[in-house]
Amino acid sequence: MKKALITGATGQDGSYLTEFLLSKGYQVHGIIRRASTFNTGRIDHIYVDPHSKKAKLFLHYGDIADAEQINNIIFNIKPDEVYHLAAQSHVRVSFDIPEYTGNITALGTTRILEAIRRSGRKIKFYQASSSEMFGSALPPQSETTQFQPQSPYACAKLYSYWLTKNYRDGYNMFACNGILFNHESPRRGETFVSRKITRAVASILAGKQDKLYLGNLNAKRDWGFAPEYTEIMWRILQQDKPDDYVTGTGESHSVKELVEEAFSYVGLKWKKYVSIDPRYFRPTEVNNLIADIKKAKKVLKWHPKVNFNDLVKIMVDADVRAFGLKAIGEGDKILEKKFPNRWWKVD
Ligand code: NAP
Ligand code: GDD
Repeated sequence: MKKALITGATGQDGSYLTEFLLSKGYQVHGIIRRASTFNTGRIDHIYVDPHSKKAKLFLHYGDIADAEQINNIIFNIKPDEVYHLAAQSHVRVSFDIPEYTGNITALGTTRILEAIRRSGRKIKFYQASSSEMFGSALPPQSETTQFQPQSPYACAKLYSYWLTKNYRDGYNMFACNGILFNHESPRRGETFVSRKITRAVASILAGKQDKLYLGNLNAKRDWGFAPEYTEIMWRILQQDKPDDYVTGTGESHSVKELVEEAFSYVGLKWKKYVSIDPRYFRPTEVNNLIADIKKAKKVLKWHPKVNFNDLVKIMVDADVRAFGLKAIGEGDKILEKKFPNRWWKVD
C-alpha cells in the first residue's frame, strides 16, 4: 500500500485529494493545525477512528512554520509521495500579512524539501504552484511564459516554484510543480470571490442578506472545478520523469460574468444587490489569466470536463441546499452526467 502525506489536508484541495488517494487504495496522512474550533469540516465525512482496522486516513498535528515537527512527521511516516498544499493562500490577505505569507507560503516549502532531502529516501514531491505567479504576463500563459508576480502571495509561490526546481536539479529529487489556475467548488473558502458570490446568492434567496459588496468586477480568471484539478496532482507524480505542468480550462471570464451567471441562474437581478467596496481592491491586480494546457493534455492526457457555466450551477446548487432551500438542480444533473463514477462526496 502506497503512503501519501498531504500538507493542507483540511483545505479545499487537500480534502478532495485525500478522498481521491483513499479511492486509489493509498494510506493517507494529513497534517492539521491545532485550532480552538474544529477545522476538519471538509474531511469529517471520510475520517474513521484510527483504532479501527478500516482506518486509512491518519491526521497529525503540525504547522508548516515548525521544521522540527515536519522532520519528525516525514521521518516517522516514511511517505512515498508528499503533496505540499499548505499555504496562506489568499492573495488579498497577503498584502495585509506579507511577512507571515512569506514564512508559510515560501519558507514552508524549504522546510518540507529539506526534511525530504535529509530523510535520504526516494520521496516524490508535489508543489502547489499557482497561475498567480504569471501576474501581469499576457495570456495565454504556459510553462514557458515569463513570471511577473503581482502580490506577496505570488512572490512567495514563485520562491517555492524555483526551490522545487532547484532541489530537482541539485539533489536529483522527484520534485514537480503543478501550476494550477483558479479552481473552485462547494468546498471553496467563503472569502474567495466565486464562493462569496454563490453563497451570497443563496443567502439572498433565503432572505438573510440583501447586499453583496465586491471589489474589481473586471478581473478575468480561468476558473475550473477543484476535484478535476486534484486528480492531476496525482497524475503529475505518476510520470516517469519529474516535470512542471500548467492546468486550467483554457477559457477566461470576468468576475462580472460570474456575478451575472450566479444571480440569473436563480432568477435574481444582480444589479439590485451588488455594490462595490474599494476595500476589496488590491494594490496591484492580476487582470487576465488563461491557461495554455497543451502540455497537460498531451503528456498527462488531461481534459477538464466542467466549464464555467457548469461550475457556477454546481456551486449555487450546493449553497442553496446549505441554506435549507430546494436547489434548482441543474448543477446536480451536470455532476451525475459528467462524473457517474465520482470518488468524492457531493456537498
Ligand atoms: P485553502 O483551502 O486555503 O487550504 C490551505 C490549507 O493550508 C488548509 O488546510 C490550511 O489549514 C493549511 N495551512 C495554512 N497555513 C498553514 C500552516 N501554517 N501550517 C499548516 N497548514 C496550514 O487552499 P486551496 O484552495 O485548497 O489550495 C491548496 C494549495 O494550492 C495552496 O497552496 C494554494 O495556494 C494553492 N493553489 C490554489 C489554487 C486554487 O485556485 N484553489 C490555485 C493554485 C494554487 P486550515 O484548514 O487549518 O486553515
Ligand atoms: N476575494 C475576492 N473578494 N476577490 C474579489 C472580490 C471580493 O470581494 N471582488 C472582486 N474580486 C476579484 C479579485 O480582485 C481577483 O481579481 C478575482 O476576483 C479573484 O479573486 P480570488 O477569488 O480571491 O482569487 P485569486 O485569483 O486572487 O487567487 C486564487 O487563485 C490563485 C490561482 O490563480 C487563490 O486560490 C490563490 O491561492 C490561487 O493561487
